[in-house]
Amino acid sequence: MTKERLEIVRARYREHALQRGMNPRDVDLLLSDLLGRSPAWMFAHGDELVDPAPLLPLLARRYAGEPLQYIRGVTEFYSRSFLVDDRVLIPRPETELLVEAALQRAPRDGRVIDIGSGSGCIAITIERERPDLFVMSVDRSTAALAVAAKNRRALESRVRFAASDLLSSVRGSFDVIVSNPPYVPYGEYEHLDIEVRIHEPMMALTPGPRGTEIIERLLDEAHALLAPHGHVLLEVGYGQEEAIREIATDKRYHVDAFLPDLAGIPRVVVLSAHAE
Ligand SMILES: C[S@@+](CC[C@H](N)C(=O)[O-])C[C@H]1O[C@@H](n2cnc3c(N)ncnc32)[C@H](O)[C@@H]1O
Repeated sequence: MTKERLEIVRARYREHALQRGMNPRDVDLLLSDLLGRSPAWMFAHGDELVDPAPLLPLLARRYAGEPLQYIRGVTEFYSRSFLVDDRVLIPRPETELLVEAALQRAPRDGRVIDIGSGSGCIAITIERERPDLFVMSVDRSTAALAVAAKNRRALESRVRFAASDLLSSVRGSFDVIVSNPPYVPYGEYEHLDIEVRIHEPMMALTPGPRGTEIIERLLDEAHALLAPHGHVLLEVGYGQEEAIREIATDKRYHVDAFLPDLAGIPRVVVLSAHAE
């Protein structure tokens, strides 16, 4: 293989990326993965000789619209690295707000359940940040659970993962029921970026035409498992606040708070059950 100076390789493929409307930083991240070096090391070692050949198939996948996180096989969430592939949703930064809210509300030595594990990012983060808690997480997708299990091992977590359609296979009582459910109405799903629609699991994104179908079922089922003074915390979609308020009232919950994300969008709803 022909080796070339690193700074030449970087400049060439960063330029190609720009011409295709892609972020040139993606080139640096893929290159740094291949070299097993940090981007900072690459900036300081432009004279090193490298073989650009292994970079080309990765860039071809990126140019074809595959998300960078799936190509790299990892993403950052709450300052930890999570393994991801197309069996799971790529964890989004706004979901860190949901984790933060759960950490603040979980009582010492409490019990937490996360519904819709995906990569395991919510449950594993809560358990790693708060080892006093018992944390369980369920998903209907056994493919997603396989990825969550890998992250459990890699991050030395004790989260109990299990297959379940929402709470149907779960017994016990929980102080915090947390979920980032699929909430995109089907009509909006059809207009999401092609990158999202083609590569991320549809089951993770849309539950049906209203967008609230899973939330409605989850709130029905949660009454049986919510400890007295417990909370249900849900991530919700842009523009769903009014609909969620109505559903919560209908399902006998009190809306304690709507927490805004960094863009000021109401993103996390905190609910408690009405006393019977
Ligand atoms: C929006 S993703 C969230 C994944 C992960 N918790 C995160 O925040 O990145 C929703 C997850 O819910 C799961 N899911 C969808 N319907 C479900 C159901 N009926 N029961 C359990 N899990 C379900 C999907 O497989 C997907 O992993």
